[in-house]
Amino acid sequence: MNTRRRTTMVGIGAGGHAMALLEVIEQLRQYEVVGLTDADPKRRHRRLIGYPVLGPDGQLATLHRQGVRCAFLGVGAIDSEGTRRRARVFRALLEQGFEMPTLIHPQAVVSRRATLGHGTVVMAGAVVGPGVRVGDDVTVYSGSVIEHGAVIGPHTLLAPRVAIAGDVTIGEGVFVGIGAAVIQGVTIGDWATVGAGSVVVTPVAAGGRVAGSPARPVSRRSGRCAGDGVMTSKEAMA
Ligand SMILES: CC(C)(COP(=O)(O)OP(=O)(O)OC[C@H]1O[C@@H](n2cnc3c(N)ncnc32)[C@H](O)[C@@H]1OP(=O)(O)O)[C@@H](O)C(=O)NCCC(=O)NCCS
Repeated sequence: MNTRRRTTMVGIGAGGHAMALLEVIEQLRQYEVVGLTDADPKRRHRRLIGYPVLGPDGQLATLHRQGVRCAFLGVGAIDSEGTRRRARVFRALLEQGFEMPTLIHPQAVVSRRATLGHGTVVMAGAVVGPGVRVGDDVTVYSGSVIEHGAVIGPHTLLAPRVAIAGDVTIGEGVFVGIGAAVIQGVTIGDWATVGAGSVVVTPVAAGGRVAGSPARPVSRRSGRCAGDGVMTSKEAMA
C-alpha cells in the first residue's frame, strides 16, 4: 500500500478541460484534488467525475489559508481569446500564492533535453523532442508532437494531434487548433489563432487568425473582433 502523503490541490474550472487534466493528475498519484471552483451557479454542488464543485473562485483564498497550496488551471480555450483569459487566471493564481505544478502524463514522452515551464501540462500520447523549450502554462493536448528545437511561448495551447516541426517558434498565448501542422522553422506571433486542420507554411503575425491548407488569414463571419479588453484579476477569475 502507498502510504505517501499526497499534496492537496484545487482545480479552477469544472468543464471538459478540467476533466482532461484530472485524468493526468490521477495517473500521477501525487496529488489529492480537494475540489474544483467554477463561477457557473448551475455547476455548484455538483460533481465532475467524482470531484466536488465548490462554487466561485472566492473559495480559493479560504482553501489557501487552510493549506491547499497547489492549483491547476482547468479552464479550456478554443481560440486566442480563450488563451488570454487563461493567462489572466493563471497570473491571478500566482498572485494568490498558489504553486502551479508541471503535469506530465505517464504515457507522454518528454525528452530529457527539453524544458517545460510551471503549470505546463503534457497529456497522454504527446511527444516533446530534444532541445524543445516550452514556457509556463502551456497545454500540450493528447497526441501532439513538438519536434527538436522548437520554442513554445507561455500560455499557448496546442489542441489534440497538433504537429509542430523542428525549430518552429510559437509566441505567447497562441491557440493551435486540433490536427493543425506547422512546418519547420516557421514563426507564429503572440496571441495568434491557427484553425483546426490547418497547415502553416509561412509566418503568422502577432494576433493573426489563420486557417486552411496552406493557412491564410480568415475573418469571422460574425464580424466579432477578438477582444483585447483588460480585466481585473477578479473578473478574470469569474
Ligand atoms: C479558425 C477558427 C478559430 C475560426 O473561427 P471563427 O473566427 O468563428 O470563424 P468562422 O467560423 O466565422 O469562419 C470564418 C471563415 O474561415 C473559414 N474557416 C474557419 N475555420 C476553418 C478551418 N479550421 N479551416 C479552414 N477554414 C476555416 C470558414 O469556412 C469561414 O470562411 P468564409 O469566410 O469563406 O465563409 C475556428 O473555425 C477553428 O478552427 N477553431 C479551432 C477549434 C479547435 O481546434 N477546437 C479544439 C479545442 S481543444
